[in-house]
Amino acid sequence: MVRSLRKLIFSVYIGLYCLTVIALQICICSQFNKDPGAFPVATNGEPFPWRQLRLPKEVIPLHYDLFVHPNLTSLDFVASEKIEVLVKDATHFIILHSKDLEITNAILQSEEDSRYMKPGKKLNVLSYPAHQQIALLVPEKLVADLRYFVAIDFQAKLADGFEGFYRSTYRTLGGETRIIAVTDFEPTQARMAFPCFDEPSFKANFSIKIRREKRHISLSNMPKVKTIEVERGLLEDHFETTVKMSTYLVAYVVCDFSSVSGTTSSGVKVSIYASPDKWNQTHYALQASLKLLDFYENYFHINYPLPKLDLIAIPDFESGAMENWGLITYRETSLLFDPRTSSAADKLWVTRVIAHELAHQWFGNLVTMEWWNDIWLNEGFANYMELLSLNATFPELQFDDYFLDVCFQVINRDSLNSSRPISKPAATPTQIQEMFDEVSYNKGACILNMLKNFLNDEKFQKGIIHYLKEFSYRNAKNDDLWNSLSNNCLEGDFTSGGVCYSDSKMTSSTLTFPKESVEVKEMMTTWTLQKGIPLVVVKRDGDSLTIQQERFLKGVFKEDPEWKALQERYLWQIPLTYSTSSSDVIHRHILKSKTDTLDLPDKNSWVKFNVDSNGYYMVHYEEPGWDELIKQLNQNHSLLRPKDRIGLIHDAFQLVSAGRLSLDKALDLTRYLPRETSSPALLKGLQYLELFYRMVDRRNISDVSENLKHYILRYFKPVIDTQSWHDEGSVWDRMLRSAVLILACDLQHAPCIQKAAELFSQWMESSGKSKLIELAMEGKVIKTQNLGGLLMAISRNPTGQQLAWNFVRENWTHLLRKFDLGSFAVRMIISGTTSHFSSKDEFQEVKLFFDSLKAQGLHLDIFQTVLETIDKNIKWLEKNLPTLRTWLLASI
Ligand code: BES
Ligand code: ZN
Repeated sequence: MVRSLRKLIFSVYIGLYCLTVIALQICICSQFNKDPGAFPVATNGEPFPWRQLRLPKEVIPLHYDLFVHPNLTSLDFVASEKIEVLVKDATHFIILHSKDLEITNAILQSEEDSRYMKPGKKLNVLSYPAHQQIALLVPEKLVADLRYFVAIDFQAKLADGFEGFYRSTYRTLGGETRIIAVTDFEPTQARMAFPCFDEPSFKANFSIKIRREKRHISLSNMPKVKTIEVERGLLEDHFETTVKMSTYLVAYVVCDFSSVSGTTSSGVKVSIYASPDKWNQTHYALQASLKLLDFYENYFHINYPLPKLDLIAIPDFESGAMENWGLITYRETSLLFDPRTSSAADKLWVTRVIAHELAHQWFGNLVTMEWWNDIWLNEGFANYMELLSLNATFPELQFDDYFLDVCFQVINRDSLNSSRPISKPAATPTQIQEMFDEVSYNKGACILNMLKNFLNDEKFQKGIIHYLKEFSYRNAKNDDLWNSLSNNCLEGDFTSGGVCYSDSKMTSSTLTFPKESVEVKEMMTTWTLQKGIPLVVVKRDGDSLTIQQERFLKGVFKEDPEWKALQERYLWQIPLTYSTSSSDVIHRHILKSKTDTLDLPDKNSWVKFNVDSNGYYMVHYEEPGWDELIKQLNQNHSLLRPKDRIGLIHDAFQLVSAGRLSLDKALDLTRYLPRETSSPALLKGLQYLELFYRMVDRRNISDVSENLKHYILRYFKPVIDTQSWHDEGSVWDRMLRSAVLILACDLQHAPCIQKAAELFSQWMESSGKSKLIELAMEGKVIKTQNLGGLLMAISRNPTGQQLAWNFVRENWTHLLRKFDLGSFAVRMIISGTTSHFSSKDEFQEVKLFFDSLKAQGLHLDIFQTVLETIDKNIKWLEKNLPTLRTWLLASI
């Protein structure tokens, strides 16, 4: 009753208001009556008819005709578009995304108007910048099931950041500065380049035309059909219509670049573009992309659907690369490779990024997540496909070993309470950007790896082929993936009574893991909807094992009062694997409950869980479990597999941070390392020792840092001395060499410093000076895109850390002018300059800064992650410094 009275008063009020405005707005009033409440106010003071961030579903786009003319001298662009839309439900307005665009004209044509070339009706355009939306108010209600054309003319400046349609500059070897224009849209920046339905599930076809000067070329998603000459000697390139795709994948570039091209086995033309002076660094990328595209076509059983694929190195680019369909944009360092000067790590990175973005052509472009909350379906998969494709095409890169670090990296974050589930609601552009983090990328990839090992390679491959085929040119949700992975029926297989018969083997919607069956979906939702990582505690009891799962937390110890509450309601379905000292057999068991028991297969001296570190869980062995493993490592480490050795080192030190294992035990585990034959395992051990060294060195705890320095130099002398000073051997040998030599020189190891100085002067004498001039020519000023990396590098150095942190605080407003709050760059700058802090004063300083930002309405999840990390560092030192001190005294 009260509600309807309020509604009545509201309607009267609105009615009176409506009488004072033009008839068109009376129509909007009916919307107010339907759903009373404050409507937003458009920039011209009129009510904006839509109040949600997500677009209404009444009108959907089918096709965009887009014309763009950038002027690289005046640094702006004029453009027009004609969007064909289908009306699902009658409505009085069309809502589109648009940001920082000046709309000069908007016209509506019915299908009939268009057919008979009638001019159409001018539309009233309202703008609501807070939601980056515009409303096109139509004079007469749009009729359901009919198609209309919306023609819009608009213009804007070429953006000077890294988003939307922006300008990038480079310097030629001759010292001339040149300008190019380039797009970067994901996740919500297509709206900065043209008004559009900028949500991933509004897929449409795009026909693009670009006007340019003769000295330039233009590129877009599709091949060019023709070029026509228009007024004043300008040229206009017309591109083929795209397949059905999301707005964030649209791309175009106007530049003066050169390219190399090749053709894949299936006939796709692949080209690599770079600025003319860097053209000679494009050949590696071409070979790698041809090989990788062939691999993916075979693996997915689906051909790349476009006739061409361009990969282009953009001088100013914020992220590493972007998978625009048919026109992938890269940072120069992610695509270009110079065999004379690039390092092993550079090669691994370039190959990885190419593999990642090519995987997106299927995972992301062909099948797209329904909404950004499931961005892991794009990024987790692309990250995981790097592993599968590189193992098959570039086995010499030994990416397998690198993949372990992908998982270790996210465990750092996932073992803090501030972590998040893989799928998480995201609404605002900042929240959407924040979804592009290590949880979506790395945890996504790691749980897929665990799932593949649980199902086996064939079932996994069939499942994802099924998923890609079923959802091609459409959008998918988590559950769609799990259903596809449970149902392995493909074309060629036949089904009967809900069971799929294939290759004379039977698979059903539940899959078998020894003696048990588990629903993929039921298992996987425990990994995607729940944050954190489980710790499996193993206790030996004669011939049986008691296994227990709990949530693994760093910085909060079992004896802390909050520990219990943080454990409640966490339960995973963990596909365990383990091996024992008595044989090579890999045993399997699914742990679904808190506690379980296992019978040990034979008499044996040790048990090691998580074979090859393929599972996303940590393992703790209650005494004498760790001792038995340490003993084995010391006696003959080769009886444990290399990836198991890496996993043991990792878990042991992580358990120290969680207060579950004493530091001296973890350090004892590293004693065998000088004899370690696997470079990645040795590197992992050294990384931990280096981490501790940096921590105590930063805090000026000089007795410990000096002793640790002596320990590392003395104990690892054989490793240091066997390093040659030539860039030779496998990728991992080379990575180990550079890490060991950098560490040895950092620790003031005299022979190292002497040799490095000698080589430096030799280099200066020969090629170095010309190289230096080249660098100086190119980088008169440091490119803004490198600021994050630079600040991180500065703060790694004890003397630079305060400098970098002060810079961030003092230049914060300026930073936000260059980068979005939620961008990779800002998040990297924040965590890179603060995460190594380990004192209470530093904690306070950082907290105060974050509080001041929050007070201005600026909030990022990473604030809490950083604070928890510093808190964890403080506790680590409090708890472990005395042990480290004593252990070192006994060891040197
Ligand atoms: N789709 C992303 C680019 C991106 C990142 C868009 C963040 C919007 C927000 C692209 O596929 C990507 O993941 N790039 C990575 C490189 C990759 C090898 C991990 C990057 O930019 O770091
Ligand atoms: Zn990606």
